Amino acid sequence: MFLKDLFGKALVDYQSGNYTEDLVTYTNISEEDDLPIPYLFRNFSNMPKIEQKALQLAKGTVLDVGCGAGSHSLYLQNKGLLVKGIDISAGAIEVARKRGVKNVQQKALLDETETFDTILLLMNGTGIFQELAHVSAYLKHITSLLKPNGQVLIDSSDIKYMYEDEDGGFWIDTQANYYGELDYYLSYKGEEENPMKWLYLDFDTLKLACETLGLSCQKILDGPHFDYLAKLTKL
Ligand SMILES: C[S@@+](CC[C@H](N)C(=O)[O-])C[C@H]1O[C@@H](n2cnc3c(N)ncnc32)[C@H](O)[C@@H]1O
Repeated sequence: MFLKDLFGKALVDYQSGNYTEDLVTYTNISEEDDLPIPYLFRNFSNMPKIEQKALQLAKGTVLDVGCGAGSHSLYLQNKGLLVKGIDISAGAIEVARKRGVKNVQQKALLDETETFDTILLLMNGTGIFQELAHVSAYLKHITSLLKPNGQVLIDSSDIKYMYEDEDGGFWIDTQANYYGELDYYLSYKGEEENPMKWLYLDFDTLKLACETLGLSCQKILDGPHFDYLAKLTKL
């Protein structure tokens, strides 16, 4: 959990005209990288194809899980859909509300109890599950929030490529945890966030977890860089 809410602080700064620097992230397997704050305020034309596709498929009442600054919620709300955005970050919720998302609540996914026709988890939606061992509990909870004929639209990436060395070999430690489980570090304006776990899930592993629970998992679209959009439904 982002206990200091530096992510939210960065969103609030940007929204209130105090944008001076980007968030900096790194993981246990990768170097520092900038997360440009304007990207979190992207409009439809600046979204990756898999996100655009998810928005096109959204129907009925929608839950935007981890809505951040509310970019996906706003687009769907403007199209006339009834959208609820939730996020654990107080700053994100403040910003999404100020940008015009009508129904936003600061809460964790596992505390949500309403039901929806479409549940969106975008920008590595499986990240919120944190660890492979939590996937099935999260999938059970999410699908318990679906109305009849409802759908979950979720994106992630197979990050095996991050373990490739110069000779094309892989240095994945097969004794270690699943390779998509990362320790994620974030800093902003000289402050360090408490590290958190963030899960990237390859499609086959997601599909297997779904099938074990009797859910259908269909790949809708491949992105340009080992990423994909999946649609989950109850059978
Ligand atoms: C990578 S950001 C994506 C934000 C937004 N969906 C977007 O695409 O711009 C992930 C978001 O999930 C939120 N989050 C993390 N864990 C959560 C949880 N358990 N329940 C709800 N939101 C969560 C974070 O606060 C953050 O805003």
